[in-house]
Amino acid sequence: MKKILITGGAGYIGSHTAVELWNSGFEPIILDDLSNSDSNVLDRLEEITGKRFSFFKGDCNDKKQLEEISSQHQISGIIHFAAFKSVGESTAQPLKYYQNNVGSLLILLEWMKEKDIQDLVFSSSCTVYGQPEVLPVTESTPRQEAESPYGNTKKICEDILVDYVKSQPGIRVISLRYFNPVGAHPSAKIGELPLGVPQNLVPFITQTAAGIREKLTVFGNDYDTVDGSCVRDYIHVMDLADAHVKALDFLKGQKTNFYEVFNVGTGEGNTVLEVIQTFEKVNGLKLNYEIGPRRPGDVVKTWADTSKIRKVLGWSPKYSLEDSMRDSWRWQKNL
Ligand code: NAD
Ligand code: UD1
Repeated sequence: MKKILITGGAGYIGSHTAVELWNSGFEPIILDDLSNSDSNVLDRLEEITGKRFSFFKGDCNDKKQLEEISSQHQISGIIHFAAFKSVGESTAQPLKYYQNNVGSLLILLEWMKEKDIQDLVFSSSCTVYGQPEVLPVTESTPRQEAESPYGNTKKICEDILVDYVKSQPGIRVISLRYFNPVGAHPSAKIGELPLGVPQNLVPFITQTAAGIREKLTVFGNDYDTVDGSCVRDYIHVMDLADAHVKALDFLKGQKTNFYEVFNVGTGEGNTVLEVIQTFEKVNGLKLNYEIGPRRPGDVVKTWADTSKIRKVLGWSPKYSLEDSMRDSWRWQKNL
């Protein structure tokens, strides 16, 4: 069984990807410093898969930690999720973000070369496109100047990968540009764990429905969209997890010096109000919400052109927005 190192594997997307890797015949090896996750995720993963995954609590900036992993396991590929991801915090503490998000990639690449590990899948984001002029967004849509240090770390990491792959005969890399990940494992045993007040829409919706937040504010209803609220492409985290498995499988068949980027979204945009209505409908609930002012810096509308990932990786999403809203709510109730 091929062993795949998942940095940040105790986190939201990493934990779901661990399940999908296992279901596809890979053995996940998890490295996480638990800076934004909890070690009980390992128990949940065992309940779901019946397998206790190897877990290393440590920092992927720490070369000694990586050495310890390679002394115990022969790693055949890496999925690099570990990063800080709060847009607001990145503006207040940019160095923390550059150090962790960019620094960790440099250390991992060095270690991959030393250990002759060829394959890497990197977590990028649709944030690199900013507000695109033409929709849907294809992979050749020009990237824009980043709105935040967080967004900039994703652009910089992509650029580093382009340069590095050209210089290294032995390496194959895919960057996946995620649109808006939502939902949870259908078992409700794992899901997103936002710390403090959620900044993202769906955790705010579920916490409001659960009575943890009094009401949700819709940030603006006077945009140029069908109902005036902003449009995003909400992708179920299980579909996103599956895209990582497909990416790894695909890399194995490529010649070296390989680099590609893929959008991962559903290919459809939904407004904030549509998300709320869907949540209410599938869960039979009324959500307390109000219309508020626009959020500064918000992208008005974005959604993915998914033809490339469908054609090249043979991936397509299987979960609907209804599934996402049902699974997010199940997860919240379980928390
Ligand atoms: P998450 O915070 O749930 O998971 C990240 C995990 O990495 C956490 O468990 C954290 O403890 C760990 N971590 C952070 N720094 C580490 C380090 N130096 N060493 C070891 N572990 C470390 O976040 P997520 O939503 O699962 O995001 C995963 C990746 O996807 C990130 O790179 C993020 O930037 C990217 N991404 C996320 C979204 C999103 O909306 N969730 C969108 C686009 C891209
Ligand atoms: C945000 C980040 C982006 C990151 C992405 C995924 C910003 C500016 N961008 O994008 O860099 O990659 O998350 O983690 O923070 N909304 C409300 N009320 C709320 C919360 C959100 O109406 O309480 C609306 C927003 O205006 C937006 C939509 O919901 O239209 C989605 O918001 P959010 O979940 O924060 O994601 P993004 O804005 O896409």
